[in-house]
Amino acid sequence: MVNWKSSEWTATVLMCTLLWATGCTRQESADGPPSSTTVAEPDASDKDASAPSETSVSASSDEDAPSVEPGSDTETPAQSSQEKLSSEVTLGDPSLTLGIPGEGPLSTDEIKNWLATEGVHDTLDITLPQGLDQAAQSITGIEENPLTRAKIELGRQLYFDPRLSSDSTISCATCHDPDQGYTARTQFGVGIAGQQGDRNSPVAYNRILSGPQFWDGRAESLEEQAKGPIANPIEMGNEHAVAVETIANIEGYDLQFDAIFGEDSVNIDNIAAAIASFERVIVTGPSPYDYHAAITPFLALEEDDLEEMKMDDPDLYERYEILKAATAANPMSESAVRGQELFFSEKANCTACHAGANFTDEKYHNLGVGMEAEEPDQGRAVVTGEDKDIGAFKTPTVRNVSFSAPYMHDGSQKTLEEVVEWYAKGGHPNPHLSEKIKKLDLTDQDKADLVAFMEALTGPFPEVETGRLPE
Ligand code: HEC
Ligand code: HEC
Repeated sequence: MVNWKSSEWTATVLMCTLLWATGCTRQESADGPPSSTTVAEPDASDKDASAPSETSVSASSDEDAPSVEPGSDTETPAQSSQEKLSSEVTLGDPSLTLGIPGEGPLSTDEIKNWLATEGVHDTLDITLPQGLDQAAQSITGIEENPLTRAKIELGRQLYFDPRLSSDSTISCATCHDPDQGYTARTQFGVGIAGQQGDRNSPVAYNRILSGPQFWDGRAESLEEQAKGPIANPIEMGNEHAVAVETIANIEGYDLQFDAIFGEDSVNIDNIAAAIASFERVIVTGPSPYDYHAAITPFLALEEDDLEEMKMDDPDLYERYEILKAATAANPMSESAVRGQELFFSEKANCTACHAGANFTDEKYHNLGVGMEAEEPDQGRAVVTGEDKDIGAFKTPTVRNVSFSAPYMHDGSQKTLEEVVEWYAKGGHPNPHLSEKIKKLDLTDQDKADLVAFMEALTGPFPEVETGRLPE
């Protein structure tokens, strides 16, 4: 039997509560999903994966709003320059993404007032929401491009502003729409004058944990990526110089660039830096799976142990109570729990690639998608020129994946059920098929369970203001 006082147990629980995905192994009780807590962060191999991240379980906010808005108990942007905005913030906090307070188009006065608000130019000290926080060591890009509230807000405006496109009809949000899971329901991205590309729009969230961008990784960073669509003839169809001039001629933008990047600083690099900063704060909040994983170590305890814990370690007990409430409010179905076990198992082998807190190894693999075409998309091989990369694409996250149909780089699969069938049949045979893709022996129930698990990876997005652009 497990005794909560045994130092080994307490150490494990504390670690699993704070760090549930990094190297936690379950103790005696073997009745739960055995490997539910053994996700190793793929990028962390050379780093100290066991060091507690600076992120916390953020107990207080879980309690209030586990299913709607993470951190909704925190303040919204100050109405005046009197109130100082905090530089310590958990991503997902609406104060980062709800825009400059007020209604309608942004007036010059509102922008000036915002830029004078104490704290908006301070470099933020960020933590990731529960679940994603296990990947704190994989955060990229914020040393090179520090996050400030003013820069994030400028990036928000640019992300939603169609004036960046040649005919003022297309913004980043056209193809990466918050209402459509930061992607678009169409098979391919649809840009100016209804033109279509040949790849599906990937999701634009949890990018803070991702280095190279695009299905083939051809952009080294989010900053580099953001410049692409503005000049892409079938996306926003503009020229960088024209986009820069348009933005520089809008007084509200000019004021913000001056205050954030220095005088005469409207240029394509700074436009991209601001947009990238906004994208980095769009993260998925805790999902039913995250609560389930965090509470799992406690479930091995008997009533007596819990009573004893209450007396001897009230803080730990309180954390347990909060988790219990959050788990009850965001339950995982039995099917999802079975699916979790499968997803992490060798039998289904999903975590061979969808690993770590963001459920991706950020590497490139050939699943055979689209390889039956006469001239298949070469994928990663276009970037590396290597045969082994033919038809290989970057592993996408499966967090919040139920919002982002259709699936795969070519949008060829309409449902999660279809995706699971693809894996069950071992992908599509071709000379470059990943050796990790093999026919799977799955029952219909197994397949349904895998889908239920992926649906249980759904957590809240930050609340985002999609309007409020400079006049
Ligand atoms: C016309 C639709 C369209 C527009 C407009 C558009 N995108 Fe995309 N976006 C796509 C498609 C399609 C891809 C995948 C292309 C590829 O991999 O070759 C993509 C890829 C991305 C990625 C890479 C994600 C990953 O997982 O690697 C990011 C980030 C992104 N876009 C952000 C933006 C931003 C920021 C803007 C505005 C400046 C923007 N997009 C405008 C369709 C669009
Ligand atoms: C060999 C690595 C690998 C394995 C193993 C793997 N995946 Fe994937 N997964 C990928 C890659 C790469 C893609 C994108 C492929 C493409 O578009 O050509 C993908 C795409 C997906 C998508 C579509 C996501 C989107 O946004 O389009 C889902 C869902 C998914 N995988 C779930 C699973 C499940 C469930 C399993 C286990 C049965 C699994 N994967 C096993 C690498 C892998």
